[in-house]
Amino acid sequence: MDLRIERGERVALLGPNGAGKTTLVMHLNGILTAGHGTVTVAGLPVRGDTLKEIRRRVGLVFQDPDDQLFMPTVREDVAFGPANLGVRGAELERRVHDALERVGMLDALDRPPHHLSFGQRRRVAVATVLAMEPEILVLDEPSSNLDPASRRELAEILRSLDVTVLMVTHDLPYALELCERALILSDGVIAADGPTREILADEALLSEHRLELPYGFAIPGARS
Ligand SMILES: Nc1ncnc2c1ncn2[C@@H]1O[C@H](COP(=O)(O)OP(=O)(O)OP(=O)(O)O)[C@@H](O)[C@H]1O
Ligand SMILES: [Mg+2]
Repeated sequence: MDLRIERGERVALLGPNGAGKTTLVMHLNGILTAGHGTVTVAGLPVRGDTLKEIRRRVGLVFQDPDDQLFMPTVREDVAFGPANLGVRGAELERRVHDALERVGMLDALDRPPHHLSFGQRRRVAVATVLAMEPEILVLDEPSSNLDPASRRELAEILRSLDVTVLMVTHDLPYALELCERALILSDGVIAADGPTREILADEALLSEHRLELPYGFAIPGARS
């Protein structure tokens, strides 16, 4: 598979359950490593000696926030990544503060993450990655289990960031709203790559890959 994403693009990664979306994104920052062949991210082969640099560039928000949060307090969880990169003192404080403010979770600084609701943990998980100030933000189903207001607020956060985004989602309207470009991953291969509007307007393509627009949803401006 060869996937090129330009700086500043926001790209949706679509595809049915089991297509390999999570597997792909876990390769993008070296959580999984190749059994056969090689994986190269931003020109760097994924290896022990390049992992730190790859993780500095590619920030991954996991499908399940409980896989991301493991410290006694929200503050420590958000500080963990940048501290690992050598950020200290006032700069570390600033990163933690800014990241939590952006996701509306500053009030939770001293709370244990496991006392937060699922949607709140998702926001904190996003903050842990924002605090690393990555070049590429990769999110695995960021809108799942969020209430409508939180879903919209997360969209506003993502739009306001000056980073490249790759977003796995089953939420096709969310993909349309946020991403100019979409990919369909099917059985481990990229089956389609194009403007999100065109992909979502192609009913045959969608049904071939078990994708469905929500009931009553029409692509704005498309003829039916
Ligand atoms: N740890 C693992 N060991 C072996 N096979 C795995 C493992 N994790 C996933 N798989 C398999 O790899 C395939 C792709 O799984 P993956 O989790 O990447 O799918 P996905 O596209 O993210 O699906 P979903 O939409 O359900 O999250 C599936 O067939 C799955 O059974
Ligand atoms: Mg998945």
